[in-house]
Parts: sequence; C-alpha cells; structure tokens
Amino acid sequence: MTVRTPDSGLVALEPRYEAMTRVLPFVFLPIPLLPYALTQSPGAGAFGITAAIAVLTGAWYAWMVLLHPGWTQRQWLMGVYVAGLVSLIMVLTIRSPWFAFFSWVGLMHAFRYLAGAWRWAASVPVALSIGMAQTGGFRRPTVAWALIVVVVACIDLGLMGGFGMLGMRSEEQNQARKKMIAELAAANASLHDMMAENTGLQTQLLTQAREAGILEERQRIAREIHDTLAQGLAGIITQLEAADGGGAEKGRRIANAKRLARESLTEARRSVQALRPAALEDNRLPDALTKVAERWSAASGVAAEVVATGAARALHPEVEATLLRVTQEALSNVAKHAAAARVWVTLSYMEDLVTLDVRDDGAGFEPGDVPGDAPADAGGGFGLTVMRQRVRRLAGSLEVESEPGSGTVISASLPAIPLAPGCPDEEGGAEERR
Ligand SMILES: Nc1ncnc2c1ncn2[C@@H]1O[C@H](COP(=O)(O)OP(=O)(O)OP(=O)(O)O)[C@@H](O)[C@H]1O
Ligand SMILES: [Mg+2]
Repeated sequence: MTVRTPDSGLVALEPRYEAMTRVLPFVFLPIPLLPYALTQSPGAGAFGITAAIAVLTGAWYAWMVLLHPGWTQRQWLMGVYVAGLVSLIMVLTIRSPWFAFFSWVGLMHAFRYLAGAWRWAASVPVALSIGMAQTGGFRRPTVAWALIVVVVACIDLGLMGGFGMLGMRSEEQNQARKKMIAELAAANASLHDMMAENTGLQTQLLTQAREAGILEERQRIAREIHDTLAQGLAGIITQLEAADGGGAEKGRRIANAKRLARESLTEARRSVQALRPAALEDNRLPDALTKVAERWSAASGVAAEVVATGAARALHPEVEATLLRVTQEALSNVAKHAAAARVWVTLSYMEDLVTLDVRDDGAGFEPGDVPGDAPADAGGGFGLTVMRQRVRRLAGSLEVESEPGSGTVISASLPAIPLAPGCPDEEGGAEERR
C-alpha cells in the first residue's frame, strides 16, 4: 500500500538530488582551473602541478567514497578521508583562490561523514581557506591579513556551519518522517490484511451459523414428523390391522384409529406452527402423562401406571414438552416391540432435576452403542435417537437399560428449569416449541 503525504513529491526527487551531489564535485573541481589560468597566468609547470592536485583530489573522493560506499559507515576511515580532502582543498586554495568554489565540498563532506565536534574541527581549515580566498588569495602573511582572514573565516564558518546544522536537522527530521511513513504504511498494510481476514472470518461464521441453523431446523422437523405423523400412522396401522380380525373389538379399534388420526393431524398442525403439544395445553405435566398413558393403554391393551413423586411444579415448557414426547415414544415402542403386560411411568420432581422412567416388563432388547441405543441389528429406527436429541438439547441425559427377556427402562433426566415469571404459558398463551 502506498501512503501519499504532502512531501511525497520531494521524497521522489531525493534519489536524483543524491546522484547530483555525488557528481557535482567533479564539475566544480576543473572549473577553477580556467579562471586560474586566465587571471594568475601560471607557468606550464605550476599549472600542471595545480591540475595534478585537482585530479588527485577527485581521485581521493572517488576512491574513498564513490568506489567504496561501505567505507562511509566507518568513522575512522571517514576521518582520514575528510582530513585528506581538507588538506587538498587548502593546498588548492593556496595555489588559487578560485578553488574556493570547490571548498564547499569539504564542508559538505565534513558534516555528512563525520560526527560531533569532528565536523567543526574539519570545517575550520575549510573556512580559513575560503576566508583566504575572499580576501584575495594567499600572500605573504602579515598579522593584519591573518586577523582579517580569521574574522572572515569565522563569519563563513558561522553562516555555513549554521546552515549546515539546519540542513542536518532537517535531514534527520526527513529520515525520521520517512521511517514513520514506512511504519505507517506497514501498519496500514497489516490493518488492511487483518480487515480482509476479518471479513473472511465473518463470512465463514455467517455461513457456519446459517448451516448450523439449517441443520438444527432440519433436525427439529425430523423430530416433529417422527413424534407426530410417523408415530400416529404406526398406531393407526396397528389399530386397523387389529380391526381386520373382525369380532367385538372391531368397532373399538376403528374408533381408536380415527381418534389417533385426528390427534396426529392436530399435533402435526401444531408442530407446523411451532406450538407446544396439545396434551400440555390445558394440563400440567403429571396430568398430561396420565391422560396419554390412559389413552395408550386403551389402544394397546397394556396396563399403564403413572406415578408422580416430589414437589410437582410448572416447569419450562420445553422441559415439559420433552418429557411428554419421551413418554409417548417410549410407550409407542412398548406397544410396537415389547409385547409387555405392564408399564410404569414415574415422574420425579427433585430440587434441581426432574426425571422420567418408563419401565416395561416386555421382551427387552440388546441396546447397541450408537445411534440412540438402538439394537445393533435395528432397521433404521429413529425414536431413541429423537429422544436423545430432545433431552440433550436441554442439557439432560437419557439412559436405556434393557436385556432380552428382562424388559426395558428408559430414563430421562433434565434440569428442572422453573417456568419463568411472565412466560406466555403462565398467562395461558401458546408456548413456542422447538
Ligand atoms: N420397550 C422396548 N422393548 C423392546 N424393544 C425395544 C423397546 N424400545 C426399543 N426397542 C428396540 O429398539 C429399536 C429402536 O427403537 P426406535 O424407537 O429407535 O426405533 P423404532 O421404534 O424401531 O422405529 P421408529 O421409532 O423410528 O418408528 C426398536 O426397533 C426395538 O428393536
Ligand atoms: Mg420407536
């Protein structure tokens, strides 16, 4: 990610500026030779020596800085370099004041490559050589001339050093700003990545939540179909099959089948509207279980006894609906599979728990491990699985105890969640059931 700041344009120019400052010494080094030749009329030998010193200066700079950029990080080496450069500048300026035009390179490099007091120490001879050039160049020294040179050099040093320090400060600030911008860009980039990751996670969570919702609803519909339509149809088939035999029972069996059909239809409609079971609409749980057992007894011909122990009280509608459905499926299983003579339904209210046992004295079976304790050779029965799902949804547990020939006990244990005050059920309204 690119961060644009007001000085982005200047920052972009920096490499070019840097390249220019590297090349400029080679421009300013030969130029003074021309006015030197024209104004001081040196002999060929003297000119040659001056030109050779100029070439040496250029070569010194090229060797120590341009060809070995790594050396610029080594303080003592740069001390040697600046000392050499300043000495050459002094020699050149003594030979011709025109080389003062090149002296600024000495100052620039003293500030760039040296640290602390060494910068000023290296700047003093450069300032003196510039001062000397400004006062007309080197001549036979007199006290007055030397004083003037020193004063001019001090002024030069103050001005140039001041500007040099300002330049250094702004360079430092520039570097700090660049570092800050780079850090900001990195932070922005990681923020950007994190946001992208976050969006991905959110999408994933939404998908998972939607899938979980779909699965939960699918399971609810499966449970409702099993406990209303499938159970009812199984009962109707049993009654009609019994009626087929004719005899005195026929009328009663057909009446049972009709009643079962009506009840199943009502239950199916209520489950479409997500309402609680009809049996709990007007009755408290112990009464509802008693009525269910009585009807079941009448239809199946198996004696059923319902006992409630402990302090019976209104519980959360979901808890009551679950216990009712478990009882209905357990009874339905007894009728279908147990060939039992008797069934005992026990509802026990304890302080924090409510338990339900449905025991029969029928054929029993060998409970398998999974799913839902169905026997290992079960042909895809769903009733025990549904019971277990319902009970687990409310943080309860379901036990199946059975053995061939020894009857079966289905035990459900649920937290006795009290009916919340103000709950629609309290006011006689329809309670949502899931
Ligand atoms: N009280 C019982 N006595 C004897 N066997 C039982 C009893 N309850 C369950 N079983 C055995 O466990 C199996 C699984 O019961 P489950 O209720 O899960 O399925 P189902 O009754 O066969 O079919 P569905 O309930 O889906 O109509 C039954 O097929 C039966 O073999
Ligand atoms: Mg069943």
